[in-house]
Amino acid sequence: MITDLRSDTFTKPSPAMLQAMFKAPVGDDVFGEDPSVNALEDMAADMFGMQAALFCPSGTMTNQIAIKCHTQPGDEVICEKMSHVYIYEGGGIAFNSGCQVKPLDGDRGRITAEQVTAAINPDDVHKARTSLVSVENTANRGGGSCYDFTEIQKIKEVCFKNKLSLHLDGARLWNAMVAKGETPKQYGELFDSISICLSKGLGTPVGSLLLGKKDFITKARRIRKVFGGGMRQAGYLAAAGIYALENNIARLSEDHAHAKQVAAALAKQECIGSIMPVETNIIIFEVTGSYTAKTFCDRLKADDILCLPISATQVRMVIHLDVTAEMVKKLVEVIALL
Ligand SMILES: Cc1ncc(COP(=O)(O)O)c(C=O)c1O
Repeated sequence: MITDLRSDTFTKPSPAMLQAMFKAPVGDDVFGEDPSVNALEDMAADMFGMQAALFCPSGTMTNQIAIKCHTQPGDEVICEKMSHVYIYEGGGIAFNSGCQVKPLDGDRGRITAEQVTAAINPDDVHKARTSLVSVENTANRGGGSCYDFTEIQKIKEVCFKNKLSLHLDGARLWNAMVAKGETPKQYGELFDSISICLSKGLGTPVGSLLLGKKDFITKARRIRKVFGGGMRQAGYLAAAGIYALENNIARLSEDHAHAKQVAAALAKQECIGSIMPVETNIIIFEVTGSYTAKTFCDRLKADDILCLPISATQVRMVIHLDVTAEMVKKLVEVIALL
């Protein structure tokens, strides 16, 4: 029994999800004729109270399409310094959109309205034109931290006053909404575009959705084609997404409870340094003493537990759909022996 905690992207479709995929009606989605993709896009747009949605192969693509749609080459994008869009998308903001980034030093991946206000460039020919703010919720490198919703409302006000677009990298927004008791419609009201992932912790093999106004999604559909993301009988994948939205969201609270249990076990060990507050399904902690992050991960691997070194001394564990209560029990026992 391997317990794979490296990421919540390691989940595999359950037999019931595979059945839904197997039975999906499909067509050519580049022609707009895949009934399952159309159903998923309508379902997601409806959930968020937004006008339209676009099914894409990855969260990187939905983020990068959004940035491309919201900006012109030479513009500046404001985001937190550890944002996925900035540090983990292969330099895509520069490569795809010809923009530069103003990275802000946030609190566990989260930025404030005050920081955004201070980061907006004046209308001066020496300066890049600030056109977009991108926030991430939950924040991956913030240890799955969640925004205080009132701060997002304040960021929206700043964007509105300064005519900036506001994008949400909501790869794990489901986790944030479950943890904080928030609704998709609350988010739909505030953001110009939202990227949500179906492939993180929900059991689907592939897929992310970009949400926005109708004309924004029309533009996004064109960019998706340019980026090579136009898929044909993608309905088999969309059917997995529909299954996930219908069946695998509410249960995320179990993952959050398991993550807290694991963090509590880690906190008792001398070889563990600081642990980021656990708000959702991600646990990031420092190892100390004779361990480096790599040797710590090697030690757990000997017990068939896989986790990820994310710096020389930091380790990440992510709890997800395929991590059972039995696996968590064993993990807690292994941690107690460290
Ligand atoms: C916060 C965040 N945004 C975007 C992505 C990109 O998603 P994908 O791997 O589907 O490209 C990830 C992936 O882990 C992520 O953690």
